[in-house]
Amino acid sequence: MLSAMARVNVELKARDPTPESTLARCLALGAADQGVLAQRDTYFPARRGRLKLREADEAPELIAYRRPDSPDPAESTYVLAPVSEPHALADALDAALGTVVVVSKRRRLLLWQGVRIHLDEVEGLGSFVELEAVLPDAGDLAEAQAKLARMRAELGIDNGALVSVGYADLLMDGPQALRRAADAAMRNAYAPYSRFKVGAAVRGNSGAIYAGANVENAAYPQGQCAEASALGALVAAGESAITAVAVVAEKLEVCPPCGGCRQRLAEFGGPETAVYLGRPGGTATELTLGELLPGSFGREALRE
Ligand code: THU
Repeated sequence: MLSAMARVNVELKARDPTPESTLARCLALGAADQGVLAQRDTYFPARRGRLKLREADEAPELIAYRRPDSPDPAESTYVLAPVSEPHALADALDAALGTVVVVSKRRRLLLWQGVRIHLDEVEGLGSFVELEAVLPDAGDLAEAQAKLARMRAELGIDNGALVSVGYADLLMDGPQALRRAADAAMRNAYAPYSRFKVGAAVRGNSGAIYAGANVENAAYPQGQCAEASALGALVAAGESAITAVAVVAEKLEVCPPCGGCRQRLAEFGGPETAVYLGRPGGTATELTLGELLPGSFGREALRE
C-alpha cells in the first residue's frame, strides 16, 4: 500500500515520429507552453513498483510509484518525497542497492485543460509524447479520460505508436542496463594478483541479463575471466543463447575481450551479436562478435 498522500493520474505514452508538428498542434489547440526542462531519473531496485530519484531544474524528489503496464490510458499511484542532498542520496542508494538505469531527457511541458502534455527527447530512445491528466485538476476520472481521448485524436496518435512501458523499461532492454550490470559485477571482481578488475554481462534470449567478474587464483592459471563467469551464470539459469554482451574494466576505457573469451562468447552468440565495450556514462565502443572473431571455429565444424 502506498501512503495516504498518494495521488492518481491517468496517462498515455506514445512514440512521436514528428515532434515539431506535435508541438505546433498542441499550441494551435491552445495548450500553454511551460518551456523545456532537463530531467534525470535514476532508478533503483524496488520491492514494490518503482523507485526513482528525479533531478531537474526544480527541487529534486524521490518518487515511489506504480503503474500497470498497459498501452491504454492508465491510472498510476505515486508518493513524492522532497530531497535536499540528491547526490548523497543517489550515492547511498547506489552503494546499498545498485542503480538499475538512468533516464535522461529534455521535456517540453504544455498545459491544456488540466492535462499535462510532455514532449520528451529521451537519451538513447528518441522522441515521445506523454499525456497526463492529473486528478482532480482534469475533472473526475471519466472526464479526465475523455480529455485524454480528445487530445489523442487531435494529435493523431495511432495504436501502433502507443508504448505500454516506461522509459526505464525501454532502456532496460538496451545497452545501458547491460553495461551497468557489467560495471556492478566488475566492482566485485576478485583480482588481487593482477589488480585488473573486469566485469562482463550477457543478455540471454529471454531478455534477462547475467553478469560476472574475473575470479583469480593463487595458482595463476586457475583464474577465470569475467566473460566466462557471466556465461556460467547464463547457463546455470537455463539459457544457452545470447543477444548482446558488455565488457568493462576498471583501468581501461575500452577492454577488448581476450582471444579465449571471444571463442567462449561465440559459442552462445552469432556474428551479429552486439558487443559493447566501455564503462556506463562514457562513450561505448560498439562491435559485433563477428568483427571480434572472424572465421571462427564453431559447432558446425563438428557436424558429421
Ligand atoms: N580478463 C578478463 O576477465 N577478461 C578479458 O577478456 C581480459 C582479461 C581478466 C583476467 C585476469 O584476471 C585479468 O583480467 C588480467 O589479465
